[in-house]
Amino acid sequence: MFLKSLLSFETSTMNYFLLFIIGLATYVGLFYYRYFTRQSPLPGPIPLPIIGNVLQYTGDAGKFVEALRLIYGDIFEFYSGTRRVVCVCRSEMAGKLFNSPLRVHSNDGLDEYGMSNKGILFNSDYDNWSTHRRFLQKTIATPQSSKETVEFTQTLFQEMEKLWKRVDSNDGDVKEIDFTGWLSRFTFENTLFLMTKLRAHALTNYYNAINPQNKVVEPEGTIPKSHSYIEIFKTAFEGAHFFLLTPKLLRNSPGMRETRNRLLSNKTGASTNLLKIIEERRTQIEKSNEKIDSNDLLTKFLTANEKISDDDIRATIMDLLLGGTLTTASTLSAIVYYLGHNPKVQKRMVQELDDVLGSDRDSNITIDQVNKLEYTDAIFKEASRLFPTIPVNVRTNAEPNEIAGYKFPAKTQFLIDVERIHRSPDYWTDPDTFNPDRWLNKSDTKMYSSYYQFGGGARECPGKKMALAEVKTLIALLYRNYDIELVDKVSPLNYKYDFIKIVQGLEIKIKPRN
Ligand code: HEM
Ligand SMILES: *[C@@H]1O[C@H](CO)[C@@H](O)[C@H](O)[C@H]1NC(C)=O
Ligand SMILES: *[C@@H]1O[C@H](CO)[C@@H](O)[C@H](O)[C@H]1NC(C)=O
Ligand SMILES: *[C@@H]1O[C@H](CO)[C@@H](O)[C@H](O)[C@H]1NC(C)=O
Ligand SMILES: *[C@@H]1O[C@H](CO)[C@@H](O)[C@H](O)[C@H]1NC(C)=O
Repeated sequence: MFLKSLLSFETSTMNYFLLFIIGLATYVGLFYYRYFTRQSPLPGPIPLPIIGNVLQYTGDAGKFVEALRLIYGDIFEFYSGTRRVVCVCRSEMAGKLFNSPLRVHSNDGLDEYGMSNKGILFNSDYDNWSTHRRFLQKTIATPQSSKETVEFTQTLFQEMEKLWKRVDSNDGDVKEIDFTGWLSRFTFENTLFLMTKLRAHALTNYYNAINPQNKVVEPEGTIPKSHSYIEIFKTAFEGAHFFLLTPKLLRNSPGMRETRNRLLSNKTGASTNLLKIIEERRTQIEKSNEKIDSNDLLTKFLTANEKISDDDIRATIMDLLLGGTLTTASTLSAIVYYLGHNPKVQKRMVQELDDVLGSDRDSNITIDQVNKLEYTDAIFKEASRLFPTIPVNVRTNAEPNEIAGYKFPAKTQFLIDVERIHRSPDYWTDPDTFNPDRWLNKSDTKMYSSYYQFGGGARECPGKKMALAEVKTLIALLYRNYDIELVDKVSPLNYKYDFIKIVQGLEIKIKPRN
C-alpha cells in the first residue's frame, strides 16, 4: 500500500517534470524561432529567453554600447529582457529619432516605480507630458529665468566662498576641497530656488556635516538634512535605471528583491518632503488675499486654471531637481577637469573674463556680460562634447519608421550613442583633442547637427538656458577670483554611471588670484 502510493507519487512528479521540460523546450524553441525570423534583423549578440542580454550588461550603458558597436557596427540590436533595443551610432540616424517626442514606452518597471505616466522625464503619455512641459516653457526656459539664475548664482557663490574660507588648510590661503561635494549642493540649491523661490541652505548644511568641530549657524531651510538630498537623486537615477532595465521576474527574485524594496522606499521618502512644500505653498496662496505675482514654477502650477494634483506637481518638481542637479554639477566638474589639463586654454579664458567683466573683481556679473563670454561658451561646449553627461539617450517611435534602410514597427525602443557621435572622426577633426577653438568657426555649422549634449527635438532639455547661465556664471566667478589647480593631474575623470555620468571625487586646490 505504502509502496504503491510512493510509486504513483513518483510517476506523477516525473510527469510534472517531463511536462515542465517539454514546456520549457517549446518556449525556448519558439523564442529562437521568433528571434531568427524577426522583421528587419540587425546584427547583435544572441539573447537568452526571458532575460535577453542583461547578463552582458555591465551597468555603464556608454561602455556597453561602445563595446557592441566595435563588434556590430553603427546600427545593431540587443535585448533588454524580452524587449528589443536598437542602437544607432551616427548623427544622420539620430537626428530623425530625436524628433520623436517619446522617450520610452510605459513599461511595467517604470509603472512600478511610479514614473511612467507622470511628471516629465519618463512620462510616456504625450498629452499628459505636454501639459507639464508647457509650464516649463513659461517659467524656467524664459530669458527672465536666465537673468534670475545669473543673479542667484552670485548670491550662492558668495555664501560658498564664506564657507570655503573656514575650511582648514595647511598652506595659508591655498584650500584643498572636494569640488564635486560642493557643486552638487550648489546646483541643487540653484534649481530648487529657481523653481520654488525656497531655500534649503544645502551648502551650509553640507559644510556643517563635513566640519562637525567648526560648525556655523545654519538658517532654517525648507528641507531637513538638505545636503543629503542629493543622495536621494543618486538613488532615484539608480531606481529609474534598475526599474527600466530589469525584467519583472528578476526584480522579484530573491537576489534582487531587496534592491527593489530599498529603491521604492527611498523614493517614497523623497516625495514626502516635496509634498509638504507644495501643501504649504497651497495654503499660503489660499490664505493670502492679494494676488500672487511670483513667477516661479510652483506658484504657476498652484494658480493655474486647470486643477493639477499635488502629486502631479510633486512628480514634475522632482524630475526637475533630478534633471538639474547632478547633470549640471558633472558638466561643471568636466569643465574644471579639462581646464586643469589645458593651462593655455585656462589662461586664455581668464583673459576673456578680465576683458569682459572688467578689472573690479567684486563687481556684479550681468546676463549681458555672460552672453558675451564666447570663449568660455566654447569651453563649455567642448567639455560637454568629450564628456556628455548623458552619453546614451533614448527614444521610441509612436508610428512605424525607417532608419538606415531598416523598417521598424511602432514602439521600438532606440538608444542613441551620443558619446560616439561626439567623438566620431566622420564629424570632427581630431575628435579626441580638447580644442574649444573648433566652436569659434562660425562657418562650420555641421558640428551642431552632431552635438547632443542637451538632446534634441520637443523633448530637448528644458533646463538648457538655465544650465548655461548657471555654469558660465559660476565658472566666471571661480576663475575671475581664484587660481585653480587639480590635486590629481593624472587620473581620468572619475564617475559612476546611472543614466547620467555622476562625477565624483574631483579634488581641487584654490588660491585667491593675485
Ligand atoms: C549642463 C546641465 C544639463 C545637461 C547636460 C542636461 C542634459 C539633458 C539631456 C541630454 C536631456 C534629454 C533630452 C532629450 O532626450 O532630447 C535632458 C532632459 C531634461 N532636463 Fe536637462 N540637462 C542639464 C540641466 C538641466 C537643468 C538645469 C534642468 C532643470 C532646471 C533640467 C531638466 C531636464 C528635464 C526636466 C528633462 C526632461 C525633458 C523632457 O522629457 O521633456 N536639465 N537634459
Ligand atoms: C496625468 O496623469 C496623472 C497620473 O495618472 C493624472 O493624475 C493627471 O490628471 C494627468 N494629467 C493630465 C493633464 O492628463
Ligand atoms: C535613500 O538612499 C540614500 C542613499 O542610499 C540614503 O542616504 C537615504 O537615507 C535614503 N533615504 C530614504 C528616505 O530611504
Ligand atoms: C550686486 O547685486 C546685489 C544684489 O543683486 C546688490 O545688493 C549689490 O549692491 C550689487 N553690488 C554692486 C557692486 O553693484
Ligand atoms: C571653418 O569651417 C569650414 C567649414 O567646415 C572649413 O572649411 C574651414 O576650413 C574652417 N576654418 C578654420 C579656420 O578652421
